[in-house]
Amino acid sequence: MTVGADPRHAARLLRAGECVALPTETVYGLAARADDPAAVRRIFEVKGRPASNPLILHLAGLEEVEPWVEAVPDAARRLAERFWPGPLTLLLPHSDRVAAEVRAGRPRVAVRVPGHELFREVIRLVGAPLAAPSANPSGYVSPTTAQHVALQLGERVPFVLDGGPCARGVESTIVGWEPDGRPTVYRPGAIPLEELDAACGGAGTWRPLEPRPGGTVEAPGMLPHHYAPHTPVVVSAAPPAAGGGWITWSAEAALRPLPPGVRHRALSRTGDLEEAARHLYAALIELDAVGLAVLHVEPFPQDGLGATLGERVRRASLRSR
Ligand code: TXA
Ligand code: MG
Repeated sequence: MTVGADPRHAARLLRAGECVALPTETVYGLAARADDPAAVRRIFEVKGRPASNPLILHLAGLEEVEPWVEAVPDAARRLAERFWPGPLTLLLPHSDRVAAEVRAGRPRVAVRVPGHELFREVIRLVGAPLAAPSANPSGYVSPTTAQHVALQLGERVPFVLDGGPCARGVESTIVGWEPDGRPTVYRPGAIPLEELDAACGGAGTWRPLEPRPGGTVEAPGMLPHHYAPHTPVVVSAAPPAAGGGWITWSAEAALRPLPPGVRHRALSRTGDLEEAARHLYAALIELDAVGLAVLHVEPFPQDGLGATLGERVRRASLRSR
């Protein structure tokens, strides 16, 4: 694998049907042209991702979405106009043009216009939308630097386009409408629920997805255990014993004296949650490489961006079976 900064090189490889890792403002993505089913299947192979887990279609602008969906309802258009380019993914009924591989046979397609200029430039150079999940092996923590991608996927991809560290650090917020019309957040993300409410409908409009009867999941990537390093993760306001790692975000915790033999990462020293979001995955990935007994992560606030960060850490703390 090579790491480089030339979008034309990325576009050449993509046009030839290869998978390439690209920077977004949220996390790095593993992209392939969405109109080439063989290239899309290769994404699943590289990540070890179940074929039942659909991919987000990335486009260069709102005006390019129309051919890929049945329609863009007014409420969706308002959100897109407010948040695109940016970390919002819309689930909309798909048109005939969307390959079954991209949506994993589901009735809707996920669409988003990423905020990173380099990613949009590559889409324009390729001349086709790009399907892209996060560029991690399935189930692991998402990469937020080109170096993380190189460590995680190595020779499985030919090229990583280096766009610097991701500005947001957590994945996009996925939204859509339930069959009864209820505005629903399918995955909390970089745009907090309160911001969706403020942009569209007012307080209480947007609701997190409620678990379905019988426990079926809307998106397989929403299975409980996900985003997880190999080291056990525990949500805890207290540091671990010697041999553990402690990840904190608050100003108080950043100043607290530590027991000897504990590795500490302060995601922020001032309690700034946007800063904490930018550093969370890097801290998990880098401390995971040290071989610690356990990682304690300070609990996040339950509202705003804290709700997103708390959800990721909670899921990282559930062990797979
Ligand atoms: O910020 C992001 O969204 C990043 C960057 C690369 O754009 N992408 C990302 O993709 O996080 P991925 O594949 O790691 O997570 C996408 C989630 C998965 O949980 C998937 O199941 C869900 O979106 N999803 C995608 N298409 C869907 C569809 N048609 N119906 C339901 N869920 C869908
Ligand atoms: Mg992912």
